[in-house]
Amino acid sequence: MEKFYVTTPIYYVNDKPHIGHAYTTVIADVLARWHRLNNENVFFLTGTDEHGGKIEKAAAEKHKTPKELVDENSQRYKTAWEKLDISYDKFIRTTDEYHESAVKEFIKKVWDKGDIYKGEYVGFYCLPDERYITESELVNGKCPDCGRDVQKIKEEAYFFRLSKYKEQIVKLIENGLIIPEKNANEILSRLKGDLKDLDITRKSVSWGIKFPFDESHSVYVWFDALLNYLSALNWPDGKEFKEFWPADIHLVGKEIVWFHSVIWPAMLLSAGLPLPKNVMAHGWWTVEGRKMSKSLGNVVDPIEMADKYSADAFRYFLLREKPTWEDGNFSESSLKERINGELMANLSNLVARVLTIAERFEGKIEGNAEIEALIKKQEIIENFEKKDLYSALNLVFEGIRQVNRYVNDKEPWRLEGKELANVLYNSLEAIRISSVFLKPFMPSTAEKIEKKLGIKAQSLSDAVFREFTTKVERGENLFNKVI
Ligand code: MSP
Repeated sequence: MEKFYVTTPIYYVNDKPHIGHAYTTVIADVLARWHRLNNENVFFLTGTDEHGGKIEKAAAEKHKTPKELVDENSQRYKTAWEKLDISYDKFIRTTDEYHESAVKEFIKKVWDKGDIYKGEYVGFYCLPDERYITESELVNGKCPDCGRDVQKIKEEAYFFRLSKYKEQIVKLIENGLIIPEKNANEILSRLKGDLKDLDITRKSVSWGIKFPFDESHSVYVWFDALLNYLSALNWPDGKEFKEFWPADIHLVGKEIVWFHSVIWPAMLLSAGLPLPKNVMAHGWWTVEGRKMSKSLGNVVDPIEMADKYSADAFRYFLLREKPTWEDGNFSESSLKERINGELMANLSNLVARVLTIAERFEGKIEGNAEIEALIKKQEIIENFEKKDLYSALNLVFEGIRQVNRYVNDKEPWRLEGKELANVLYNSLEAIRISSVFLKPFMPSTAEKIEKKLGIKAQSLSDAVFREFTTKVERGENLFNKVI
């Protein structure tokens, strides 16, 4: 049996989850569900990144201990993922004991390799991004990534010999580590410059894992966080590690590709471990045309969206509204338009129309699958394999539109006997097959369709026209109009 190990970034718990976190997680969930549909052995990991100065500061501002804050906010992520029907296999927290001991063990390996040395860090730090910045990278004195203020630091630190792995990393990226290509090119051009060794400890941050060779330092939060992908599998001895490592895909937003495609592989090379197969970057959401921010008050809460519109509708919107690799805009009015114009008017109505007639039909539903060509099965599968979820979903809906057109043309309400049996067969089978492909995107909608059609949970091998033998039941609408 093939295995598939997919991860999301682990999220900072200085605050509650928003649409950006939900987006990365929903994409990972769709991929995990797709691979399960293919009967693969899937391990889907998500979790929370709980150390570092940013959390320390957020806790102090809220008059809480860091531990109180991370416990509270980590739980909010779990709640959000439950609401959004996220089928993770494991939720890791970097404050978990097993993670902390794996980090120390890993550092020992890198130390024994001779890849860590003591020095002094002189430069800048962006606290919201938890990243080091050199003077030449500053843009108008601010962080080049997020434009916020940076701190000046001059501090004793331990360094990881990142520069030593530069050539191997360039090769790895040239060989296709990063999806899509534009993000690979961006990293490659950054690698044309100097690659400096990485400061991996902070003396001035106390909310972190103690550096095992000098407890007056704590481990840099990114060095700690990246290791979650190993510790979650109970590295070094766990059976999960043996079964699932290396990761098949690390899913990340475009701003953290560098950490996953440069720093992370270098860490693994140093420890002599196999490298992940892919790092996939996705684009960012703006909200109502503007950058999302607390001060603008336009932060989209995924829990609220799921409660208001259903998990499936929100998941559908996230994947349908913009190409996965591009940036896009969220607005509640376009979410409503898609629910009314597509989920209700296309999908829900098609199912209701066909089932209303099929429910009353007495004879045997059989036919000749003349509409097989309308569902572009091969293309849908190819897009899933390329991880182009946006195109896969578009094609599924294109198919649903075509089936609607077919029903309009055939006017089954005027037909009877064999002719009617044939139109019903075609439409029901087309709906059933579409529901197989919809399953990773809208799991509970697909399940409702299966129930209406009287069939059991389906897998990819069911996406073929065959004899229709069950009794159907129209039941309630899949989607209703929202105002
Ligand atoms: N803790 C690090 C990741 C460590 S992984 C070893 C981190 N956490 S985060 O809380 O900032 O979440 C990052 C994820 O949220 C990224 O995948 C990022 O792209 C996503 N998003 C945050 N804001 C976003 C948007 N406005 N739009 C889309 N996704 C964005 O980074």
